[in-house]
Amino acid sequence: MQTHDDVVDRQFGPRANAYVASPTHAGGPDLDRIETIARAFPHAKVLDLGCGGGHVAYRAAPHVAEVIACDLSPQMLNAVEAEATRRGIGNLTTRQAAAEALPFAHASFDLLLCRFTAHHWHDLDAGLREARRVLKPGGRAVFSDVVAPAHPLLDTHLQAVELLRDTSHVRDYRIDEWQAALGRAGFTIDAVATHRLAMEFASWVARMHTPEPHIIAIRALQRAASEGVKRGFEIADDGSFMVDVALFEARA
Ligand SMILES: C[S@@+](CC[C@H](N)C(=O)[O-])C[C@H]1O[C@@H](n2cnc3c(N)ncnc32)[C@H](O)[C@@H]1O
Repeated sequence: MQTHDDVVDRQFGPRANAYVASPTHAGGPDLDRIETIARAFPHAKVLDLGCGGGHVAYRAAPHVAEVIACDLSPQMLNAVEAEATRRGIGNLTTRQAAAEALPFAHASFDLLLCRFTAHHWHDLDAGLREARRVLKPGGRAVFSDVVAPAHPLLDTHLQAVELLRDTSHVRDYRIDEWQAALGRAGFTIDAVATHRLAMEFASWVARMHTPEPHIIAIRALQRAASEGVKRGFEIADDGSFMVDVALFEARA
């Protein structure tokens, strides 16, 4: 029986190096903000939850005591270890785990960083509860992810193209859904910042090896979309589009 976590691992494992190399993941104002926050915690033990290609961990590691990069996918973690060695980062280790069942004791971390992964989690609430549990009381957390627009039509379009592109997609949550979920998990939100992120169509589908029939379906959805949807996502002739990213700074 194939679980959702198996689907995630099957999608991401073989593409680990593409995520290490991805310019979409290697930069951005959210990553800059994460680095600024990490600088303020020189003695911190930090968890990069859903580390993917490791870009959060590489940014944080030079400024803190220790980073543990955690992901479902063992192949992703192998790629992160190789890249950390290549970069000469000595305070980064990896741990395989699902966000929903973290193998760490209560209050193990001072700072938890989590970027572009929660939209794949089978159970957002369980993952956030675990994040809260492994943080020390008053510990800081940063969650950054693609967020759905407020209008249901744009929300549905976004989830549809995301799922066609990558069958491990669960949901890009709206900002109010994030705020409610963080509250339920026991986090206090200190700040929310948003920015627009460009999804360049060819590299977006190449990174995930999206099958040709799904690419054709995404393009058909984009062509059939109303003017409001096209404008909302700034859909270009080649299928490239813009999404909103939100960064939540929270305290346990
Ligand atoms: C887009 S990548 C993450 C990008 C990375 N955090 C960054 O900022 O560049 C998404 C990652 O989430 C991981 N993932 C998905 N669901 C997960 C879960 N439930 N627990 C832990 N990791 C998960 C995937 O294996 C994948 O490596």
